[in-house]
Amino acid sequence: MAAQSCDSVPEQGGEPGVALRARLADFTKTFDRHLDEFLRPGSDVPPQLADAMRYSVLAPGKRLRPYLVTRCCELVGGRAEDAWHGGAAIECVHAFSLIHDDLPAMDNDDLRRGQPTCHKRFGEALAILAGDALLALAFELLTKHTPDAGVAAGLVLELAQATGWTGMIGGQTADVLGETQPPELARVAYIHARKTGCLLTAACRLGGRLGGAAEATLAALGAYGRDLGRAFQIADDILDITSTPAALGKTVGKDAAAGKQTYPRCVGVEASQAAARSAAREAIAHLGAFGPEAADLRALADYAVDRSY
Ligand code: IPE
Ligand code: IPE
Ligand code: MG
Ligand code: MG
Ligand code: MG
Repeated sequence: MAAQSCDSVPEQGGEPGVALRARLADFTKTFDRHLDEFLRPGSDVPPQLADAMRYSVLAPGKRLRPYLVTRCCELVGGRAEDAWHGGAAIECVHAFSLIHDDLPAMDNDDLRRGQPTCHKRFGEALAILAGDALLALAFELLTKHTPDAGVAAGLVLELAQATGWTGMIGGQTADVLGETQPPELARVAYIHARKTGCLLTAACRLGGRLGGAAEATLAALGAYGRDLGRAFQIADDILDITSTPAALGKTVGKDAAAGKQTYPRCVGVEASQAAARSAAREAIAHLGAFGPEAADLRALADYAVDRSY
């Protein structure tokens, strides 16, 4: 599969973000074929489990994390085909996080990616198990499809730390416990950095590792992912107030109803928009060592703030 050229990405006038959105759509078409292959069940897999997993992962998501894996791999000199399994692994972890996030015991949501949530469609037991199996599959993919065992071990450690008690799941814990605590910006920042920032950081660093990047480059890519994550989750909090289920593919107004710790709850929508924009600028600043070949990643930071979905 040919790597996509990034020469055409800088906006040439017109509506901002149009070139990036076209590029993301192109990427998704190619990536989803690989994702589908990685999610073909063997004959020993219970069909209902495979159906629930495939239903959630292959549903139309933005594929932001796999895009970051692939582009960061290419940016440091690797090839897209070296990165597909890394993108699939992180999309499996992400889908696991969404399935469990939507469960009645957590956010109790009915709609995800424009379709009924996994537990609404398959029942709670299957949804819990599909999430569990996707988490395990992520590490299976990383180890099975990374030719160098040392590189594979580095990827597994990186993704495990970004996912577990020090990462996304730690953030989800603070998010749930935060529902009964007074709103506080420092708490929001803690939650955002973990529940969202850790996987975006990992996506960039996994891509860098797959492309053979040196430590200093991995650090810059990771810092970009971290600040992109801040911008992205502040925007997610804002969209829960300002958007519609038709535009987002998920329910809205749930954060306030659940007493969530969110950025707009602490400082209002306008100041939240300013904070998201400033996080995006900080993300872009970490790409200073790259030239025009990183134009799409810069555009992605703006898109994280300006997106309507
Ligand atoms: C939703 O992530 C959960 C958050 C971390 C905000 P995305 O907005 O990337 O969800 P999909 O993958 O497009 O469905
Ligand atoms: C969840 O944050 C982030 C995850 C780790 C899934 P939210 O609960 O705000 O995500 P949405 O709005 O349901 O997608
Ligand atoms: Mg949640
Ligand atoms: Mg939620
Ligand atoms: Mg949300």
